[in-house]
Amino acid sequence: MGKKDELLDHDYDGIQEYDNDLPHWWVALFWGGIVFGFIYVGLYHFGGWQFASQKLSAEMKKIEDMKASTVAEAPPAATGEEVLLQLASRKESLEAGKEIFIAKCAACHLAEGQGLVGPNLTDDYWIHGGKITDIRNVVEVGVLDKGMIAWGPLLKAEEINQVTAYVWSLNGTNPPNPKEPQGELYKREGSVEAAESANESA
Ligand code: HEC
Repeated sequence: MGKKDELLDHDYDGIQEYDNDLPHWWVALFWGGIVFGFIYVGLYHFGGWQFASQKLSAEMKKIEDMKASTVAEAPPAATGEEVLLQLASRKESLEAGKEIFIAKCAACHLAEGQGLVGPNLTDDYWIHGGKITDIRNVVEVGVLDKGMIAWGPLLKAEEINQVTAYVWSLNGTNPPNPKEPQGELYKREGSVEAAESANESA
């Protein structure tokens, strides 16, 4: 370590320099940089710390997985026959379905489902099939060339399920002034009356 302002022997084309110590801040930065480097390499390359890019791709992968699982789960849960039949046995979903029916469907099917522009929804005859999944399907995709609206884009999947459950519950309610039967006879499983009346009329 030189003394303050002591000239070195060198003479560079007439330029001379002192042999002074480096400033403390500079030395601190120098050693600090080396220590930081070791800590950084240690933590990120050997200590399991993640770079921002790795964190990002981990988060993105989580989102993709979530998307994949909702896509995989949603359709069967929404359209399954069992789920729909269950809804049709629950008071709350039938009430919700009735509200939707009165608001959206009664204009063409009348308030009690007896039929006007659209067919009677209370009898055992169905143009597009009488299974609860058939009914849900017509409600969702509509019959555009016959004037039945596709409700898929207009209602939530849950609302379609509820109104489907409500339509299912209308069967056999015999409202006044029903529209004549259209389509084919569909006998519900376990429905003795439906089977008997089919035999009588045959
Ligand atoms: C603008 C009039 C209109 C509205 C509103 C309407 N429907 Fe229809 N719907 C029809 C017509 C017309 C048909 C008959 C289609 C055919 O002949 O194939 C039909 C058929 C159906 C069928 C099939 C019946 C069968 O015999 O297979 C169901 C179920 C049904 N509608 C339910 C609904 C529900 C639920 C709503 C309300 C969310 C609704 N409709 C609203 C006109 C309408």
